[in-house]
Amino acid sequence: MCGIIGYTGSESAVPIIIEGLKKLEYRGYDSAGIAVYGRDGINVIKRKGRLAELERHVSGISVNYSSGIGHTRWATHGEPSDINSHPHAGSRNEIAVVHNGIIENYKQLKEQLEKKGISFISETDSEVIAQLAEYYYDKYKGDIIETVIKVSNRLEGSYALGIICHDEPDKLVAIKKDNPLIIGEAAHGNFIASDIPAVLKHTNKIYYLEDKEIALLHKNQVEFFNIDKEPIKKTPETVTWSVESAEKGGEPHFMLKEIKEQPKILRETINSAGNDGENKIVIDNLDITRYNKIVITACGSAYNAGIAAKYVFERLCRFPCIETELASEFRYKDAVIDEKTLVILISQSGETADTIAAMREAKLKKSDTLAIVNVIGSTIAKESDYCVYTAAGPEIAVATTKAFSAQLAVLYILAVSFAVKLGKITSETERELMAEIAALPEKTAAILEKVDEIQKYASTCIGYKSIFFIGRNIDYAIAMEGSLKLKEISYIHSEAYAGGELKHGTISLIEDGTLVVAIANCERLYPKIISNAEQVISRGAKVVLIGKNCRFSNANCELFDLPECNELFSPSLSVIVLQLFSYYVAANKGLDIDKPRNLAKSVTVE
Ligand code: F6R
Repeated sequence: MCGIIGYTGSESAVPIIIEGLKKLEYRGYDSAGIAVYGRDGINVIKRKGRLAELERHVSGISVNYSSGIGHTRWATHGEPSDINSHPHAGSRNEIAVVHNGIIENYKQLKEQLEKKGISFISETDSEVIAQLAEYYYDKYKGDIIETVIKVSNRLEGSYALGIICHDEPDKLVAIKKDNPLIIGEAAHGNFIASDIPAVLKHTNKIYYLEDKEIALLHKNQVEFFNIDKEPIKKTPETVTWSVESAEKGGEPHFMLKEIKEQPKILRETINSAGNDGENKIVIDNLDITRYNKIVITACGSAYNAGIAAKYVFERLCRFPCIETELASEFRYKDAVIDEKTLVILISQSGETADTIAAMREAKLKKSDTLAIVNVIGSTIAKESDYCVYTAAGPEIAVATTKAFSAQLAVLYILAVSFAVKLGKITSETERELMAEIAALPEKTAAILEKVDEIQKYASTCIGYKSIFFIGRNIDYAIAMEGSLKLKEISYIHSEAYAGGELKHGTISLIEDGTLVVAIANCERLYPKIISNAEQVISRGAKVVLIGKNCRFSNANCELFDLPECNELFSPSLSVIVLQLFSYYVAANKGLDIDKPRNLAKSVTVE
């Protein structure tokens, strides 16, 4: 979703802000803008479209500005346009604001301000913040902190705000509620940002702002206040992500780089959760015998990881009640959960609005919450009772790949640990299963060596109007992920079906030239999925069969053999082929793979 960057320091603000915005592009946006403060006051430049468009317009402006804010907007209120882009300034151009989130009471606030003679120029909810800030700044005789507190007290909804003020050229103020915002402290100045990669080149010293805390950034120090204007002390955290981890590393797209990183991140995640890392301590401390129900909840790909996990948990733990729910559904359904329920939340960003709401709903009903999160210090990581981190590093491509794989690995290890605690498996079986999990990085590396084969095949598939993915049991879960990945980045219509469901409707869509991707890792169900393949081939479809020991031979079927693997962990292998397939279909179509249309990396609003 929208991205915020702000800087005040001894260097030129404009190139630093533009560079920071580029690092936030992956979040998804349709327009961008900056506001900088220099000798001649606040200068706001904003443009609909890609950052390159904005860059063209800022290229002429003085580099002497040393404080400013920047924003990539993903339209919610009002169409993408120059006027609706951020930053928004008040009518007197005294205060400029960048905003992530949604102001729910903006209409009432707007009406009240209009009655005071203030006129608005955009259709956004965000402009109301800038106008309100100017109104209070005037009323409180230039006290910027008092102003921000007053503004915040009037806003309903969610917000992360970066604010600069005409009279305070070397300062930058930030506040947040239900939307992430970090503060970075560097040698040459201080930053605000909605995500770590935006500042990683300058600093790894990060403060995580809590709801309604205010940060006042000076060029050489940062002060923090609570909502009562009392100074508070915060301790920075040192982020271990490297600068290179947020760069493309010579690959044409972040997505391909992230796909190829999977053996490494799997190794690190498995080490930390299964061997001797901090995650293992969290997992060991969790007493599964206290619960009689497990609910796994998440959105998008993280939800698909949860669907796969349900099969693994059921098989290994023989736990009577395990559900996987979309967080957007779970939060509104008045779920039957209580203190005997463990709610597992899966989220790469740790900031997905629906998953946060699901977590809060679970806590309200006294359930324990266990989060599997990638971004350290994110809302879900902080608010959950237990948190296991995936070691995926920064994931920049909008379509998740490595974080999904890391989530699966953590879920497998959890399932094995729960099964042991519940007395459902012997220590010998535990050892065997953990050895299987430990072998996954090597097996994924072996699949990645066949990248050329997948690339070649994918290049023949760009003409399809529709592609179906089928699988049974855990293969169905990974079929869902394959289908989601393909539609996200290639814009080809796609659906995933449980193989057994074909005859209940979908088969009517199969005709000459339809492509069906069939996943076949479940030994017991192999004949069933082959039968599905035969049925669709006889109706004119072409089939791609992905699995281990694929023994099916047909002129209309392409095979991708996977290494031998316990079927419970096979999603980690199938998904590599599916990710590469989607990637190369989209690449051959010449699409903007890392930033697919209409999608945002982190869905922080509903
Ligand atoms: C798909 C994708 C999304 C996310 C979903 C949840 O490639 O990236 O479907 O999985 O938006 O995001 P997180 O994991 O950040 O909660």
